[in-house]
Amino acid sequence: MITGDIVHGTSVTRAWVLHPDISSDRDRRPAKPALDEAVSLAAALPHLEVVGSNIVPLPKMRAGWLFGSGKIEELRKKLEEAEVDLVLIDGHVTPVQQRNLEKAWNVKLLDRTGLILEIFADRARTREGVLQVDLAALSYQRTRLVRAWTHLERQRGGLGFVGGPGETQIEADRRAIDEAIVRLRRQLAKVAKTRELHRASRDKVPFPVVALVGYTNAGKSTLFNRLTGADVFAEDMLFATLDPTMRGVVLPSGRKVILSDTVGFISDLPTQLVAAFRATLEEVLSANLILHVRDVAHPDTDAQARDVQAILTELGVSSETQVIEVWNKIDLLSEDRRAAMHAKSGREAAIFAISAQTGEGVDLLLDAVSETFDEVKTERQLHLGFADGRKRAWLYEQGVVQSEDQTEQGYDLNVLWTARQEKRFRDL
Ligand code: GTP
Repeated sequence: MITGDIVHGTSVTRAWVLHPDISSDRDRRPAKPALDEAVSLAAALPHLEVVGSNIVPLPKMRAGWLFGSGKIEELRKKLEEAEVDLVLIDGHVTPVQQRNLEKAWNVKLLDRTGLILEIFADRARTREGVLQVDLAALSYQRTRLVRAWTHLERQRGGLGFVGGPGETQIEADRRAIDEAIVRLRRQLAKVAKTRELHRASRDKVPFPVVALVGYTNAGKSTLFNRLTGADVFAEDMLFATLDPTMRGVVLPSGRKVILSDTVGFISDLPTQLVAAFRATLEEVLSANLILHVRDVAHPDTDAQARDVQAILTELGVSSETQVIEVWNKIDLLSEDRRAAMHAKSGREAAIFAISAQTGEGVDLLLDAVSETFDEVKTERQLHLGFADGRKRAWLYEQGVVQSEDQTEQGYDLNVLWTARQEKRFRDL
């Protein structure tokens, strides 16, 4: 494990969370819910006690120190009084800023990406999960080396010479990281291949896949458990689910589908992690239906939904994949809001208001999922050449192949599919 130096060890680390509220930042999120989320993120790490937190209003970021000197001194006193060991900054902190602030406050410091990586490192259970987190951590460290290096070079440029021990060291570190990354990628490819084989054997009994996605803590695992009767780790803890979990579910129509619970999304998900989890999230990419679980009782629910959609697009989920929005946690809403949501439910194309905890609304949701798969299907004969491997794989992935004969020119296939699948196939 590459990260994890905070997580391990049994003594309790006293942490303080700071949310810089930068007014010049155009994508700035409402400060209070953002701070609350950062505190919950911190609480997701074991052996860590959040002893305080606050919002730091900033007109703009200071290059070397992030904050102004008065603010740094004010915070120093606060941190010293509270005997803080670790400061978590809910935002991006450059390596230079990190070094300066750690020295000024005599603490260890993590920024948002660092914190999310620590949590992922702590949560990863499968070999693939561990490898992915390691890969993400290394890619993150590498970008930090590059930044530190450009910074040094700028200084050196002023002095008019090139090279020097600093650069050699950083070059060596970078090479070591690159080599480790290559090794990890190779191991991951091997693990992914095994998973691919499992998937292929699953495809022989082609059940449609329904993937649960959503912002972290939205209630995906709770819904998964309710639908499958399984006991997946559901906790009021961010990123309780890291590795995808799959289970068969029989719908009211009698049709069996595979339900897949996935890692929770979060705004500003480090790009390294999006890339690293692409493999795990392949289940989402090939899903026949996506259930986007939303915590509608959360003050920031709309922004969370936008973030989830942005990540889905970044992952390459096709705009044709059907999505049902599941408005969860309605038991926490006032009677009025709840009634308003029920009124929209089911009527507004693909929205269902439910409580995964009490079960309210879940039957209607299941009926809707059933209906999705009960679209009218037509039978067609297709001929594919040997070169059309990708198309043939897609047909199997969709589970539409009824029979297949190999001919001298390729394959004759009998498929049973919906109009939507036919259109997607023609566009391949
Ligand atoms: P990640 O693993 O972080 O992605 O979370 P998740 O989306 O799987 O959420 P999870 O199911 O672990 O639920 C998070 C918290 O919300 C837990 O404390 C659940 O008990 C709670 N919760 C889930 N659904 C509901 C609901 O319908 N109503 C209420 N009141 N609480 C809920």
